[in-house]
Amino acid sequence: MRFAIIAPPHPTALWKKNFEEIVPHVPLLIGHETDQPEDVVCAMVWKQPFGSLKKFTNLKLIFAMGAGVDHVLSDEQIPKNIPICRVIDPQMAFSMSNYIIMAVLNHHRSFYEFEKAQRNSHWAQFEFEERELKIGVLGIGHLGMDCAIKLHQLGFSVVGYSPSPKQTPFPSFSGANFDAFLQDINVLICTVPYTKHTHALLNNKLFQKLNRPTYLINVSRGKVHVEEDILSALDAGVLSGAFLDVFEVEPLPKESPLWLHPKVHLTPHIASLTYPKESIYQMLHCFDQMEKGLPIPQLVDRQKMY
Ligand code: GLV
Repeated sequence: MRFAIIAPPHPTALWKKNFEEIVPHVPLLIGHETDQPEDVVCAMVWKQPFGSLKKFTNLKLIFAMGAGVDHVLSDEQIPKNIPICRVIDPQMAFSMSNYIIMAVLNHHRSFYEFEKAQRNSHWAQFEFEERELKIGVLGIGHLGMDCAIKLHQLGFSVVGYSPSPKQTPFPSFSGANFDAFLQDINVLICTVPYTKHTHALLNNKLFQKLNRPTYLINVSRGKVHVEEDILSALDAGVLSGAFLDVFEVEPLPKESPLWLHPKVHLTPHIASLTYPKESIYQMLHCFDQMEKGLPIPQLVDRQKMY
């Protein structure tokens, strides 16, 4: 019985270290190359080479090393009928929410304007008022819900949107009321998973339905937005600014106009990192439940893609 980590070098090193500390007696394969593929019962994966899981004939569990599973499921050769679990971690929600709150507060308190004034040794007292925000959280799953509740508790006006109705301590929209949600806000926070329904969702057509101007924060996946449309919406004053952690192509190409756009703030997909120690405990719990024939937590619905 062997577990495998199939991922890029950085997460592999972190997960290997933690795995070996937590379960030193369990044999671990790094990467997918092996003479004994039949030994592998559980694969922890992130951006795995397509088709690489096919050879593990005794695989019982696939564990996605992150919250989003689009990278894992884009492998069409991924074995069918094997449960896939993903990370659902309060610590991830903590860092994601703090990141989003930072972006909201910087905008709310005109931080960038004051920063610019500072660079000019200019005392900008009374020049920028607190912005009145009506915050919309698009996608109120585990991560979106956490940040929406925290923003609501900070006293902001918050509304949420999810395809199916959710119990929320703030007003929320669902189903066909998407346009009503968009028309109710001036900050749009996107935390949706990447699926065939959310592909290129943040596009010009959607931006045209927003109040002018609206501030955009995207921490979900780059392919959920259309960068060309964000740039034209910024230039036309439809969007007042954009705070982006994810991009259509990552790393963001050097020639992207987003880097130097005065209304864009960006970070290199770090809004919420996975905490390997907690995630490995989760993976072991999922595996244990599966072995005992008990309900497996954190199961991914392959159709829904989350
Ligand atoms: C990171 O982007 C994740 O999906 O965990």
